[in-house]
Amino acid sequence: MRILFIGDIFGRPGRTIVKDRLPGLVREHAIDLIIANGENAAAGFGITPTLAEDLFELGIDVITTGNHIWDKREIVEYFEAADGNQHSPARRVLRPANYPAGMPGWGLYEGRKGNVDYAVINLQGRVFMASNDDPFRVADQLLTDVKAKVIFVDIHAEATSEKISMGWYLDGRVTAVVGTHTHVPTADERVLPGGTAYITDVGMSGPYDSVIGVQKELVVGKFLSNMPVRFEPATGDVRLCAVVVECAESTGRATSIQRLMLS
Ligand SMILES: [Fe+2]
Ligand SMILES: [Fe+2]
Repeated sequence: MRILFIGDIFGRPGRTIVKDRLPGLVREHAIDLIIANGENAAAGFGITPTLAEDLFELGIDVITTGNHIWDKREIVEYFEAADGNQHSPARRVLRPANYPAGMPGWGLYEGRKGNVDYAVINLQGRVFMASNDDPFRVADQLLTDVKAKVIFVDIHAEATSEKISMGWYLDGRVTAVVGTHTHVPTADERVLPGGTAYITDVGMSGPYDSVIGVQKELVVGKFLSNMPVRFEPATGDVRLCAVVVECAESTGRATSIQRLMLS
């Protein structure tokens, strides 16, 4: 099985390059399953139900997110309306699983593509981020129930050390652990000894003539002044960052991970 994971889709520029380049990527890499982080799909801040379903229309199977999940309030109603319905498209939009108990939404999706069962887990780190439940223990709990061999984990975190630790912690138990959130791709992709594909950050799919997606003058100004600033998405130098993970369906172990940056 060949899985494409697309890093944080940022605003309209990110959505447009994904729409333009996805069909070619799927053909060229014989992709079977597509996962994307969509936490910045709505002008950099959150995702709406309409935008999620636009991404599903493009062929994306599961959308992961992170700290921006609640930026657009409609997503709460979307999750609540799907409660109890496994087949609702809202079930395929994940928020980190280690959020406080009782929050809307889900951090695990179990599906089937072709004849292969798979699971996607979304986690969020705690270093330099909001204090949520322990993502390591929450991963343990989720993995006790997952039946699929192919298990893909998005660890949405700030600290490289926390993400690398999650990779080692889950090595041999999941197909892939990929990092998101910093919007800067890292060059450390590898298959760990237990057969888990790993990368610290896949990178953003959006405008790179920016500071992690936002117009650079606004962010530089914020650093210079410490005054509140309304962040607007940038538009220039749009790139798509992704990884392709190949794995054995029978065991779920990864055999390769390839990093991609398209412009
Ligand atoms: Fe992001
Ligand atoms: Fe984030």
